[in-house]
Amino acid sequence: MVFYFTATGNSLYVAKQFDPDAVSIPQVKEKAPVYSADAIGIVCPVYCGEPPTIVLDFMKRATFDTPYLYMVLTYGKDVSDAPEFTKAQLAALGIDVKYIGTVHMVDNYLPVFDMDAQKDMDKHIDAQLEAVKADIAARKEYVPAASCRAKKLHKSAAVMNRLMPSMNNGSALRVTEDCYGCGICTQVCPIGNLKLKNGKSERIEKTCLFCLACIHACPGNAIRLKKEKNPNARYRNEHVSLSELIEANNQKII
Ligand SMILES: Cc1cc2nc3c(=O)[nH]c(=O)nc-3n(C[C@H](O)[C@H](O)[C@H](O)COP(=O)(O)O)c2cc1C
Repeated sequence: MVFYFTATGNSLYVAKQFDPDAVSIPQVKEKAPVYSADAIGIVCPVYCGEPPTIVLDFMKRATFDTPYLYMVLTYGKDVSDAPEFTKAQLAALGIDVKYIGTVHMVDNYLPVFDMDAQKDMDKHIDAQLEAVKADIAARKEYVPAASCRAKKLHKSAAVMNRLMPSMNNGSALRVTEDCYGCGICTQVCPIGNLKLKNGKSERIEKTCLFCLACIHACPGNAIRLKKEKNPNARYRNEHVSLSELIEANNQKII
């Protein structure tokens, strides 16, 4: 049994390796779901050295009745102390994660990375996946310890995140004149925070996970950030279709 959150498909690709019927976290509507299984996995990206808030909120409200709760974190450049930090964060909530694996993939963070350059890099994803799969099949109990450098990096990224309201309220995103109202952004937003008005996309609330799903999936490249490394390059995991991303995240508000 596997649950996942994804914006651009990396974590869905990984989740499917463990469970072809993996469940997308934005689709779980129960307030206090209870899950029982021999092993339960959570797969998600790392955001500024931490799991996305939507994943933590799900884990807080769910009960995992299993002897082996594991996580697989996908990341793009530097996982920092995310595994150790996440283990401690969840332990403080009474959630005992036995194993946290990591998979280095394309970094979809547009302010810093050029998607064309990222797509050209061979990060040996399948070899990493095989190693994580073997660990989980053996029910290994392990969370990598973080170095001082990793802890410092996470701290500075987390502080920056908290100091930059634009990363939490969506104000860094702008819908340009190129928007022709296809509505795909409204379907890939995991919190249903985009709607079409007069044939153009616009945000409903200020809230935003800054997952960048809307920007990466826009076929007209009409949603942009104020600052981007390469405004013309966008990303979706090559093994994941647009309809799978829509199925994963659509909140069916239109
Ligand atoms: C807001 C945000 C913050 C991120 N922070 C980190 C980070 O701290 N370290 C890292 O290596 N990658 C970081 N990334 C990259 C993603 O973790 C990585 O590309 C991930 O595999 C994307 O998964 P997805 O395709 O399932 O959404 C960040 C991406 C976003 C959008």
